[in-house]
Amino acid sequence: MSQAAEEKKKDLTQKETLLEVNNLKKYYPVHAGFFRRKVGDIKAVDDISLKLRKGETFGLVGESGCGKSTAGRTILRLTSATDGQIIFEGENITNLRGAALRKARQDYQMVFQDPYASLNPKMMVGHLVDEPIRNYSHKSHKQLKPEVEQLLKRVGLREEDYYKYPHEFSGGQRQRIGIARALALNPKLVVADEPVSALDVSIQSQVLNLLKELQDEFDLTYLFIAHDLSVVKHMSDRIGVMYLGNMVEVGDNDAIYREPLHPYTQALTSAIPEPDPLNKKERIILKGDVPSPQNPPSGCVFHTRCPMAMDKCKEIVPQLKEVRPDHQVACLLYDDE
Ligand SMILES: Nc1ncnc2c1ncn2[C@@H]1O[C@H](COP(=O)(O)OP(=O)(O)OP(=O)(O)O)[C@@H](O)[C@H]1O
Ligand SMILES: [Mg+2]
Repeated sequence: MSQAAEEKKKDLTQKETLLEVNNLKKYYPVHAGFFRRKVGDIKAVDDISLKLRKGETFGLVGESGCGKSTAGRTILRLTSATDGQIIFEGENITNLRGAALRKARQDYQMVFQDPYASLNPKMMVGHLVDEPIRNYSHKSHKQLKPEVEQLLKRVGLREEDYYKYPHEFSGGQRQRIGIARALALNPKLVVADEPVSALDVSIQSQVLNLLKELQDEFDLTYLFIAHDLSVVKHMSDRIGVMYLGNMVEVGDNDAIYREPLHPYTQALTSAIPEPDPLNKKERIILKGDVPSPQNPPSGCVFHTRCPMAMDKCKEIVPQLKEVRPDHQVACLLYDDE
């Protein structure tokens, strides 16, 4: 780790917690038959816990369908939680409603994966960016224009872009509009859900670097969601690995890559190309497919694909537990540690 990274880490561990998520669950009911009776649940998020310190980037990673977006949306209260707690700046926001929820929501915003689908094509850029502010104040477009122009410039667009429409921009520029919109209310927490996966590889790093610069400037805390481990590695201070609605490992960026503890994390990290040929890791290929979240395996949900599975893994649900300083894993291999 470089000295600067080392210092940032020390700095962050001393910072206070901004967000705490305890045993969060989000189930979607499944209905079937003539009477549309409830026949089960899709367990999109089935018990995740995490803590975000002020100013850090927490990367949430896992295969498609493991529940990353659902976790992000539930944490931001865009959808209600089935169970568990979401605590933001010490306040339990899990069950806030009405005016209290509306007020609290100013502090947390989302940047979406597809900047085209998330921007109303009929609105000009200036009005798209001032819309969140106008939801909370009685100010007019005209009053807000100087502020919006500043914001456009800050995300790498031009003042004149105020009068343009989303279709006049490239994907990368559209994502910059999405970022300006997310920052308009000066939030404390930003959930960025695969913010660059819809973009050309050549412009991905520009948008990622912009997010990094803005983090320092606006004192932001990020929950950064991605399925691409190398993107998460580039962005995150700490990383949480999800599998089938569960958090299986949480640790420092460095620890997750150098010493992955969970067999699933070991498989994920073995797939990252290693620049140093002397340091070649063997690639672990997982057998089988991800099981359905409507009917997850008993015990440890990963046991059906785990190369290290033991008999007890079919029965006992492993809990996330700290087995190294600041490094937690939910796996029965570490039961005695
Ligand atoms: N509104 C919904 N109603 C029913 N099921 C849903 C809903 N939203 C998501 N799901 C299901 O929940 C599970 C988790 O989905 P989610 O979109 O959170 O995963 P993800 O990790 O973000 O995947 P991706 O990498 O593809 O974006 C999936 O099985 C999905 O089909
Ligand atoms: Mg998603």
